[in-house]
Amino acid sequence: MSDMLVRLYDLPDSQPIMAEMEKQGITIRRAIAPEKHIVLDWIREFFSEAWASEADVAMCHHPSTCIIAVDEAEKKIVGFACYEATYKAFFGPTGVDPAYRGRGIGKALLFKAMEGLRELGYAYGAIGGAGPTEFYAKSVGAIPIPGSTYSVYKGMLKRPAPRAGDQ
Ligand SMILES: CC(C)(COP(=O)(O)OP(=O)(O)OC[C@H]1O[C@@H](n2cnc3c(N)ncnc32)[C@H](O)[C@@H]1OP(=O)(O)O)[C@@H](O)C(=O)NCCC(=O)NCCS
Repeated sequence: MSDMLVRLYDLPDSQPIMAEMEKQGITIRRAIAPEKHIVLDWIREFFSEAWASEADVAMCHHPSTCIIAVDEAEKKIVGFACYEATYKAFFGPTGVDPAYRGRGIGKALLFKAMEGLRELGYAYGAIGGAGPTEFYAKSVGAIPIPGSTYSVYKGMLKRPAPRAGDQ
């Protein structure tokens, strides 16, 4: 996986995708401190402890740099996206509840986060360790950064695999 670069000064207009979210009853907004336990539990359940750690850092900024998608009818979180969690100007991690994918929620979260980076004064944003590169290329015109395969995550500590007999 490589990092990708996004021209923040050239972002497409997010209004149509935000209007679509409103039509679907999905709110895209910053997560706030009293929601932190709920947001982190949700990320652990659907994704990983490492992503929950990054979201924890993002939620400690003022304002929070963790964006969430909320299904207003169900009153529950259905997606998240962070920026400036691991490095400055970095986007990620992000994820959408599998039952809600393909409805534009990932793209709306991405736009809101990229606009957040632009508001901080950056001309370019970096997508850290981009998995679905086509999603980023299509949504915000991201391009791969040569030589960034291991990027800033090289040598990152990980929990050992569970051993036989572990509870
Ligand atoms: C990647 C992810 C956030 C996309 O969320 P989503 O809500 O399903 O995406 P959207 O519905 O907003 O898709 C926007 C566009 O990107 C395309 N797209 C979405 N996921 C894609 C993928 N994995 N590969 C290629 N294109 C993709 C959609 O077809 C759509 O295209 P369109 O605008 O022409 O209709 C979601 O699939 C996910 O949570 N994946 C697992 C976690 C993950 O990989 N996170 C990224 C880590 S870098």
